[in-house]
Amino acid sequence: MRSFLPMNWGVAPGSKVARGRRWPTAGARARARSFEIYRYDPESGGGPRVDIYEVDRDDCGPMVLDALLKIKNEVDPTLTFRRSCREGVCGSCSMNIDGRNWLACTQAIDDIEGPVRVFPLSHMRVIKDLVVDQSHLFDQHKLIEPWLHAEEPPPERERLQSPEERAKLDGYYECILCFSCTGGCPSYWWNGDRYLGPAVLLQAYRWLIDSRDEATGERLDELEDPFRLYRCHTIMNCTKTCPKGLEPAKAIAEIKAMLVKRRQ
Ligand code: SF4
Ligand code: FES
Repeated sequence: MRSFLPMNWGVAPGSKVARGRRWPTAGARARARSFEIYRYDPESGGGPRVDIYEVDRDDCGPMVLDALLKIKNEVDPTLTFRRSCREGVCGSCSMNIDGRNWLACTQAIDDIEGPVRVFPLSHMRVIKDLVVDQSHLFDQHKLIEPWLHAEEPPPERERLQSPEERAKLDGYYECILCFSCTGGCPSYWWNGDRYLGPAVLLQAYRWLIDSRDEATGERLDELEDPFRLYRCHTIMNCTKTCPKGLEPAKAIAEIKAMLVKRRQ
């Protein structure tokens, strides 16, 4: 797996986030809201800075993503961020908004007081502006083999589950891999090279409890490791910062309980 350093937001140890430029207002100034947005372009050779943009709320959609799109389309086309669905289902627009990791497309501007501060997802390596390097996260996701393992040949139609078996996946299958939780986890900040982090562990649990999966033992073997699983110290930031209302900390506790149970 890839090295995880340097982390944001100073980009390099000792570097500072400088005050950037103030851009002209997008639209009229009638109900202008101020957006303070982290900018970093490694190709420029300069350090990171925070630029200030004014956006007229009467001429902009309700969400932070609407404002980012307006700024990009009408003021500063160099502003760089990820987004796709605009509906809270693809997970690509996760970033740090007003001090909390969340989805820009589900964060209402009017729910934030004062200037809207937008930074990249915390403690990830920044590629440019609000885009972070997710390679290591997806390498870790691959490690848990997030697909069905079954020795039985596939039936003619689908593999059946009872309604009760299916209901066990509720609260886990909805994860959109936005990594808000992982970016907000102090244990991951310090041990992200080997600790799998809340998002990947929630995904691992989703497969452990799938009644159709036949690799429970092997999956637990892979997780029973002082770093991969046991670096979770139940800090609970993950649950607070999940924009889908999921509970990664609970999933991690359940995995630990499964490991204890199989030793008995
Ligand atoms: S558990 Fe929540 S915060 Fe974590 S990756 Fe899944 S949807 Fe995002
Ligand atoms: S754009 Fe898809 S979750 Fe925000």
